[in-house]
Amino acid sequence: MARLRIKDILTTTPENQQITVKGWVRTFRNNSFIALNDGSTNNNLQVVIDFNNVPEETLKRITTGAAVQATGILIPSLGKGQSVEVKAESIEIIGDSDAEKYPLQPKKHSLEFLREIAHLRFRTNTFGAVFRVRNSLAFAVHKFFNEKGFLYIHTPIITSNDAEGAGEMFHVTNFDIANPPKDENGNVDYKQDFFGKATNLTVSGQLEGELAAMAFSDIYTFGPTFRAENSNTARHLAEFWMIEPEMAFCDLQDNMNMAEEMLQYVIRYALENNKEDIEFLSQRLEEEEKQKPQNERSEMTLLQKLQFCLDNKFERVTYTQAIEILRESNHNKKKKFQYLVNEWGVDLQSEHERYLVEKHFKKPVILIDYPKEIKAFYMRQNEDGKTVAAMDILFPGIGEIVGGSQREERLEKLETRMKEIGIPAEELDWYLDTRRFGSNPHAGFGLGFERLVLFVTGMTNIRDVIPFPRTPKNCEF
Ligand code: 4AD
Ligand code: MG
Repeated sequence: MARLRIKDILTTTPENQQITVKGWVRTFRNNSFIALNDGSTNNNLQVVIDFNNVPEETLKRITTGAAVQATGILIPSLGKGQSVEVKAESIEIIGDSDAEKYPLQPKKHSLEFLREIAHLRFRTNTFGAVFRVRNSLAFAVHKFFNEKGFLYIHTPIITSNDAEGAGEMFHVTNFDIANPPKDENGNVDYKQDFFGKATNLTVSGQLEGELAAMAFSDIYTFGPTFRAENSNTARHLAEFWMIEPEMAFCDLQDNMNMAEEMLQYVIRYALENNKEDIEFLSQRLEEEEKQKPQNERSEMTLLQKLQFCLDNKFERVTYTQAIEILRESNHNKKKKFQYLVNEWGVDLQSEHERYLVEKHFKKPVILIDYPKEIKAFYMRQNEDGKTVAAMDILFPGIGEIVGGSQREERLEKLETRMKEIGIPAEELDWYLDTRRFGSNPHAGFGLGFERLVLFVTGMTNIRDVIPFPRTPKNCEF
């Protein structure tokens, strides 16, 4: 008989029909009640067995973590919290699990401990919910852009460019690193390397995305990106997934509108399609918040926070206005910021972004027109000569979730800027071609996928929303 998924069984009307179910045992009580889970939902299916008809040998093997198959009759459940249960006619152990050795005991484990056993944490309620939500969000991203007529482009993972110009790249080589070939000047001779030049893992697919946008008008990428920045924080990964739309004939306003619409679309999609998981995560967060002192608890539950983002337009503010707000804030005057805000031109730290969003505006904020010195070379220069048409979207509890800009489409201005900051034009000649042939105002942004998942799941550490996190000094599994 075909196996049914527990998610579907739980919404079936019980009419004494015979069904087969397979899954992993979460708990086994009184030699009678198995709580079975197959990952299709956070809810377990209760399988009731008659221990008089099951050999002692089999009963002993129904342990937490074991894979089992049950065939039986679907009946209304008398127990609390479930509408149906299975009265088993036969039960079979598919894969044993030694209860003594199984690391996941049926009790509450800390997230830190679960991170160490990330190969098993998928089987917990929390991570089950997190990764089902992650899956939905990824699907929603594709659905959104597909409905908008965007082309999905696969940009390379190995590349020779540094799209952000920040030098945070992982090198890719197949040299014997203890003994690489040298040229006559004693430098490493990359001409002899696999690609005949120095290469690295991509930090962003944007530059290649721009090439495609100059033909298809509207494109997006959704792929892994890599940054060798030594930031050991709850918001940084060395390997993360980024969504990068790029739009021809598009200015900063259009870009902001698109980003806002997209974020609201995918959040709404998750709320509608992962209601139970998000309710579970919302409760989880409330429990966690109870451990904190009253004044540090968030004013809204996770569900309220998500709904709030859908109901409110994001606040649009210039960098210059933001600096004024921060400089004049009591927080700054009382020296509560680790980095005090004294002058125009400083880069904003996560604490400043979160102050603006959580304390001042109390809603998502789009910050625009940053000083050119703290932004990438490709951003469009504003008339004032000091700022560029950049936009960062800041979210409560997260800080920066999106970074984007209108691009500098004027060849001369772009070349001059590259020269100023020492980016050799020869290396990006192909990129400059977009400005030579049919250049036009265009714009795009990058959404850090894990930061989005953090926001929607209410988890607090980015290591808990990607299956196998890569961070400084950590590359397990
Ligand atoms: O602001 P970033 O560096 O922008 C770019 O890479 C542009 N090329 C995007 C574009 O315009 N097409 O990164 C974009 C987003 C950030 O806002 C953040 O959400 C996420 O990527 N991000 C990270 N997420 C996790 N770990 C890291 N180390 C991240 N660095 C950036
Ligand atoms: Mg950024």
